[in-house]
Amino acid sequence: MQANSRAIVTNQPGPHQDLARRVARALAHPLQKPIAAHTRAAFAKAEAWRAARPGPLILDAGCGVGISTRRLAERFPDHVVIGVDRSADRLSRDHGELPDNALLVRADLVDFWRLALAAGWQPVRHYLLYPNPYPKAAHLKMRWHGHPVFPAILALGGRLELRSNWRLYVEEFALAIEQATEVPAGVEAYRPEGDFLTPFERKYHDSGQSLWRLTLDLPPAPALMPGHD
Ligand SMILES: C[S@@+](CC[C@H](N)C(=O)[O-])C[C@H]1O[C@@H](n2cnc3c(N)ncnc32)[C@H](O)[C@@H]1O
Repeated sequence: MQANSRAIVTNQPGPHQDLARRVARALAHPLQKPIAAHTRAAFAKAEAWRAARPGPLILDAGCGVGISTRRLAERFPDHVVIGVDRSADRLSRDHGELPDNALLVRADLVDFWRLALAAGWQPVRHYLLYPNPYPKAAHLKMRWHGHPVFPAILALGGRLELRSNWRLYVEEFALAIEQATEVPAGVEAYRPEGDFLTPFERKYHDSGQSLWRLTLDLPPAPALMPGHD
């Protein structure tokens, strides 16, 4: 990957004015989208894999080529790490053998998160590393904090870590967390110091861009997701 990534360009001067309304709606109305059969099947396989490995769970949501999944598995050898991405192309790239405590799953997170919540999964760590920014104001609903699945991300609980090269994405995410949970979440500059967790992290850093991060501990709270029983 070449280190000539352009900085995010947005037509938003600050947090989106519709953010609070979208978060309130997500917290009040069940997400109607049916679960796709392919993600249901992928989730069942992940459940079976996990059942054979009793360690605490780490989710790497939007893992891309899965390098972060591998690194997290090495960093936390007593944990099991599941990387999820919808791109078969990215997941199929050869980055060497997966550690025994890591699994890559092709699935749509909008469905995977809801299935994980319904199955009672409680990740101890949950990473959202460089999600697609969708920087145009019109695309707020495609950012994770503007999407109806947002409450499910929080409901799973654990140490949530979001990283992005777009400060406003992380700031909006923090505002959405505060609205949903009343837990304040801080945004901090992040310097990887050569220890890159993902290819996008390396690319943005090598292009001279600032990186931003939010981490906070959330208790599992399934009731946050409307329609969860
Ligand atoms: C900008 S890339 C970052 C990939 C990786 N985390 C990294 O930092 O190198 C965002 C990733 O999120 C994945 N993604 C976006 N929406 C998704 C969804 N609904 N379900 C699963 N993966 C999704 C994309 O396929 C892509 O691989």
